[in-house]
Amino acid sequence: MKTTNRTSRAPVGRFREKTIVLGVTGSIAAYKAVSLARRLMAEGAVVQVVMTRNAQRFVGPLTFQELTGRPVGTDLFAPSDAVPASMGMPHLALAESADLLVIAPASAHCVAKLAHGLADDLLSTLALAAECPVVVAPAMDGGMWTHPAVCSNVLTLRQRGVTVLEPEVGPLASGRTGKGRLPEEDAILSAIAGALHPVKDFKGQRVLITAGPTQEALDPVRFISNRSSGKMGWALAEAARDRGAGVVLIAGPTALPPVPNVTVVPVVTSEDMRKEVITRFVDSDVLIMAAAVADFRPAGSSPGKIPKGRGPRTLALEPTPDILMDLPSRRAGQFVVGFSAETGDLVERARAKLRRKALDMIVANNVTEPGAGFGTETNRATLLDRAGRCDALPLMSKLELAHRILDAVLEFPTDRLQKGGTS
Ligand code: CTP
Repeated sequence: MKTTNRTSRAPVGRFREKTIVLGVTGSIAAYKAVSLARRLMAEGAVVQVVMTRNAQRFVGPLTFQELTGRPVGTDLFAPSDAVPASMGMPHLALAESADLLVIAPASAHCVAKLAHGLADDLLSTLALAAECPVVVAPAMDGGMWTHPAVCSNVLTLRQRGVTVLEPEVGPLASGRTGKGRLPEEDAILSAIAGALHPVKDFKGQRVLITAGPTQEALDPVRFISNRSSGKMGWALAEAARDRGAGVVLIAGPTALPPVPNVTVVPVVTSEDMRKEVITRFVDSDVLIMAAAVADFRPAGSSPGKIPKGRGPRTLALEPTPDILMDLPSRRAGQFVVGFSAETGDLVERARAKLRRKALDMIVANNVTEPGAGFGTETNRATLLDRAGRCDALPLMSKLELAHRILDAVLEFPTDRLQKGGTS
């Protein structure tokens, strides 16, 4: 049996060690780029801001300079501006240093310039020189977004491999309501994460993930639940999506925002979750049960609130069905991953569950360990599989662990995954 301890990596954000050039163009939404820059930095990125002349009419470069700690690129002909003279032409140096170029907000004019390859300022010139992934987050009035010229420019960019996000629908600066608002920050960040993950090794795979706790009602206001935050399942959904999978996330009640470009199916009880998993399992290639499904529920649920005076001193409970044990026949060869939340005897208990639940792989973690419990941003897990793998991983971010789990799924020799999913 193979037991390995891999070297420890710092648990930091998804964009660590990435240099992201943030292009800001002339739109009322330019102020939102300030918050976006903060989020990118909070997730570990080095952020280099480049502003067009019109962007500076909405927000001053000083704001970005103070925030990012780096001079803002504003002038194609001023080498001392954002790039030391020793590094040569600013547009070439910036293009070369960038792991990704995101333009947010991108005005209709900017979209047109990108589509036509015009290069008359620092941002448009560096966009032509850049060989890195490009993400464009447009913001404009609704009528402009649907104008045939803009539609055609967006199509051109998408055909060229540029990620052009759809604007949000809502109130616009013009006073009208329509589709033209800058996409939500979370959607921009997800698109960046996806574009930075060039390997689409889950393309064609349909990945079903469960996350969060379930709630089992005692009456309309009281329930039994557990401490699961849903963060591990969310990280798995993001990682699988960024690697090209079609993802369905069956989520118990959590405080987390929806995951962009993932089908989120909200559920409350273990029975709701069981029904959704059973129905959707047949059309999936991989099932990852990260949810902390309640093992017990009240034997009866009162339709009205139970008054304090008449409340039971002892709760009668009944076991909930085990979803993994209830899965329909796996004729189609789905790959099934379970989780094992333990407080001791980690490997032995996880191995027993792997066998009992006929799993392909199990992710075991000791929830009492610092940094590995419920609600944390990090986790320390041991991966076990039915081929005998037993891989104790170091403490890492939940997103990084999600990628390690997906790596392990692909490393497992099954026909279905190697064929790139079913159609
Ligand atoms: N699970 C499930 N249905 C349940 C309970 C758990 O499918 N009713 C799944 C979980 O999503 C997880 C795996 O089974 O992937 C193991 O869950 P865990 O709570 O660690 O173990 P249990 O089977 O509940 O056993 P125990 O409580 O004795 O540890």
